[in-house]
Amino acid sequence: MRTLLLPFALVACAAPRPLPTGQVPESAPPVADPHSNGRPAEVRTTHLDLDLTLDFERHIARGTATHHLQRTDPRAPLVLDTDDLTIESVTDQTGKAVGFFLGAADPILGRALTIQLDPGVDTVVVHYATSPDAEAMQWLAPEQTNGGKAPFLFTQGQAILTRSWIPLQDSPGVRITWAARIQAPAGLVPVMSASERGKDGAVATFRMDKPVPSYLIALACGDLVSRDISGRCAVWAEPSTIDLAASEFSDMESMVSACEGLFGPYRWGRYDVLVLPPSFPFGGMENPCLTFATPTVLAGDKSLVALIAHELAHSWSGNLVTNATWRDFWLNEGFTVYLENRIMERVYGKDRSAMEIVLGMQGLADEMKALPAADQILHIDLSGRNPDDGMTQVPYEKGAAFLRRLEQVFGRPALDTFLRDWFDSHAFQSLTTSTFLAFLHDKLLSTDAAKAQQVDVPRWVEAAGLPSDAPVPDSALFLAVTTASRAWQSGTPAAELATKGWVTQQWLRFLASIEQPTLAQLAELDQAFAFTRSGNSEILSTWLVLAVRHNYRAVDRRLDLFLMTVGRRKFLKPLYEALLAAEDGKARAVAIYAKARPRYHAVAQRTLDEMLGYSAK
Ligand code: BES
Ligand code: ZN
Repeated sequence: MRTLLLPFALVACAAPRPLPTGQVPESAPPVADPHSNGRPAEVRTTHLDLDLTLDFERHIARGTATHHLQRTDPRAPLVLDTDDLTIESVTDQTGKAVGFFLGAADPILGRALTIQLDPGVDTVVVHYATSPDAEAMQWLAPEQTNGGKAPFLFTQGQAILTRSWIPLQDSPGVRITWAARIQAPAGLVPVMSASERGKDGAVATFRMDKPVPSYLIALACGDLVSRDISGRCAVWAEPSTIDLAASEFSDMESMVSACEGLFGPYRWGRYDVLVLPPSFPFGGMENPCLTFATPTVLAGDKSLVALIAHELAHSWSGNLVTNATWRDFWLNEGFTVYLENRIMERVYGKDRSAMEIVLGMQGLADEMKALPAADQILHIDLSGRNPDDGMTQVPYEKGAAFLRRLEQVFGRPALDTFLRDWFDSHAFQSLTTSTFLAFLHDKLLSTDAAKAQQVDVPRWVEAAGLPSDAPVPDSALFLAVTTASRAWQSGTPAAELATKGWVTQQWLRFLASIEQPTLAQLAELDQAFAFTRSGNSEILSTWLVLAVRHNYRAVDRRLDLFLMTVGRRKFLKPLYEALLAAEDGKARAVAIYAKARPRYHAVAQRTLDEMLGYSAK
C-alpha cells in the first residue's frame, strides 16, 4: 500500500489537487486553463444561441452570438476569447448597448473580449463578423471540391480555433448547450455537430441539447447529400462521393453497437459521418453526432476505417468525458486509441487490431527519437505554447499503451468495468489528469496492491520515454512480412515474394521495413507492386516518403499531384520533411509549396511555414 501511495502522491501534488472521486458536482468550477482568457469561475456561459449568415463571396460569417450566463461573482465582467473577429456591438437581453473592450492580441490566445455586466443582466448579444483569414474556417473554391461546381466551407475548432469564428469562452473545461440559425446561399446545405436539425423557411436550424466544450461546435456547408446506413447512422458527402463513402463506411452501425457493448450506451442520438474535400487538415474530427473525415480514407476496401472507429470512440472518451485543459489531451486521445482498437477487434477481428497496434507503436517509437524529453510526457506542460504542439503520437500511442498495460496487469474484465465506470460517473464533465489518477487509484489500483505495484503510474504519466513495463505488441500476420522483407533484402526478386493476399497493414509494415534501398531496388518494387499508382493514401504516402528520401524520381508527377490536392497534415509533414532532406529537394519543396500553400488549411500552413521557413511577407 505504501509503495503505491507514495509515487501517486507525487503525481497528485504536481497538478491541481484532485477532487474526491465521485464528488465532482455537475457545475464544478472549471480549472484554470492557460489557453483561454475566459474567467468562467466568475461568469460563464451556460447556453449559446448563434445566428449567422454565410457570405461565400467575401468569405465572412456575420451575425450574433447570444450568451446566457451564470454569474457566480455578481461584480465580475464576462470575458470571452476572440481571434481576428470584428466586434460590431454588444447588447443585453433588452437590446440596450453594453460596454465592452478588446484586449491586446496575443499570438497564441488572440484577444480577450471583456463585457461589462450591470446587475440583472443575464444575457448578452455579441454582434460580430469573422475575418476571411479566420483560422477555424476554410472556404474552398469549387475546384477544391470533388464535384468541382459549388464552393465549400468547413470549420475546425480543436484545439483553440473556435474563437476565430465564435466569440466565446474557448476552453474545454467550459461546457455549454447551444442552438444555431444558419443562412446559406441557395443550393448549399449547412450541417452542424448538433443533436437536432431543422428548417425555418430558408434558414437551417440546429440544436445541441447536451453540454459540450467549445471545440466541438462545428459547421460545414456545401453541395451535400446524405445516405442512411442504419436508423441512427448516415454518411454525408458531395453527390460525387456519396456512393463510395456509403459502401466504405457501411459498418458504422456495427461499430457503434460494438462500442456500446463494451463501454456503455451511445448517448448522442445520431452518429453521422461527413466526408470533406481533401484539403481537410486532419484524418478525422470527432464533432458530436457528425464526425468530420478526410476523403483519403476512402480506399475502396475498408482498410482505413479504423479512423471511423477512432472518431466514434471519442463519443465516449473526449466528447462525453473531456480533457479539462490541453495538457490533459492524453485523456481524450490515449483512451480513444485504446477504444478504437477494441472496436476494430470486435468488428474486424484480432488479426486486424493487432497489426494496427504494432503500426501505432512503431510510429510512436519513430517520432519519439526526435522529440525533446519534455514533449514525451503524457501530462505535458503546454503553458505559453500552442496546444497544437502537444499533438504528437505521445498522447495517442503512449496513452493507449498505458491502458493496455493496465489491461495486461488487471485483466480485461477489470479494466473494462473500470473504464465503463469512468465514463458513466463522469458523463458530460471535463476532467484533469489528477482527477483521473484519483479515480484510477480508488477504483482499480487500490483493489489489488500486488498488481498495482506492477504499474509504475507516475512514470507513465509524468516521465519521458516509454516505461520498460510497456507491453510489446506483436502480430502473427507480420511474420510473413518480415520473412518476405528479409528474403528481398538478401536478393530474392520482388515479384517472387509471397505477398498474395496481403492487406494494407502488411504492405505498410513491409514499406517500413525497407532500409537504405538502392534506386534499382525501388524501381524493382514499383515494377512488382505498382506503389506509385496505389489508390490507398497510407500506402502511397509511405511509398512517396521512401522514394523522395532515396531520390527515386519516377514518383515526381504523382508526388506533385498528391501535394497539390491533399491537405492532410499527417501526410504533408513527412513528405515536405523528406523533400527538404533530399538532394536539391529544398528548391523543389519551396516551389511546390508556393503553388500548393493557398490550398492548405491554416493549421497545415502553420506547421509547414515553420518547417520551410516560409513567410507570407
Ligand atoms: N481530435 C483529433 C484531431 C485533432 C486533435 C485536431 C488535436 C486538432 C487538434 C482526432 O480525433 C484525431 O485524432 N484524428 C487523427 C486520426 C486518428 C485515426 C488518429 C488524425 O486526424 O490524424
Ligand atoms: Zn482523436
